[in-house]
Amino acid sequence: MHIRQFLDRPSGSLSYLLACPESKRAVMIDPVADDLALYLGVLDEMQWQLDYVLETHLHADHLTAAASLRQATGAKIASGDAQMQNADCQLQEGDRLNIGKLQISVIATPGHTPCCLTYHCADRLFTGDCLLIGDCGNLCDNGADAGRLYDSITRKLLRFADETLLYPGHFQQGRQVSCIGDERRNNPLFCGVSRDEFIARMANRPCQMAARCNEIAAANRQCGIPLSKTN
Ligand SMILES: [Fe+2]
Repeated sequence: MHIRQFLDRPSGSLSYLLACPESKRAVMIDPVADDLALYLGVLDEMQWQLDYVLETHLHADHLTAAASLRQATGAKIASGDAQMQNADCQLQEGDRLNIGKLQISVIATPGHTPCCLTYHCADRLFTGDCLLIGDCGNLCDNGADAGRLYDSITRKLLRFADETLLYPGHFQQGRQVSCIGDERRNNPLFCGVSRDEFIARMANRPCQMAARCNEIAAANRQCGIPLSKTN
């Protein structure tokens, strides 16, 4: 598998291009609108054909490049959130996508939002804002649920083999990749922490929402129509 990771510094978001070396078919996970030219440059340089834009969830901290990438490449947009009204496919637990010889499996990991998805490809997990490095996603969304987040992470993600690579939706303290063994042993939110303790801890966490988060989320429900610069 070819993989490219992109860091959008203003939002701290991590995005991913995965490609099958033989067929040159590719998917993009959680693209950021401001970095569209960068993605298109890599697709052109590598001669990869983008089949899908996969959203892990409805983002409120950055505008997605999904609609722009669809327009530029013909890719389909797939999401697990029915609020993304003009996505091409709605995904759910157990769905599989074949991208050349790559097989991507969908794992429902609600909690940060009700419809968060994790994408599993070979020995890698793309967790969006569910499991982060030494951390987890916030609970600022209206539909966020600490118990569901704990269950998603402990019952579904931390059960993968130690060496499974974790590619999250945000970088933490300069780190952009981890592995499941490391998180199981060292993530302070889950290591030796009961479900009730986790819920209590998260209830005390302040919510720091991105500027213009409501406007960004509204645009992302349309798969990232451009924001008006006058607003
Ligand atoms: Fe998020």
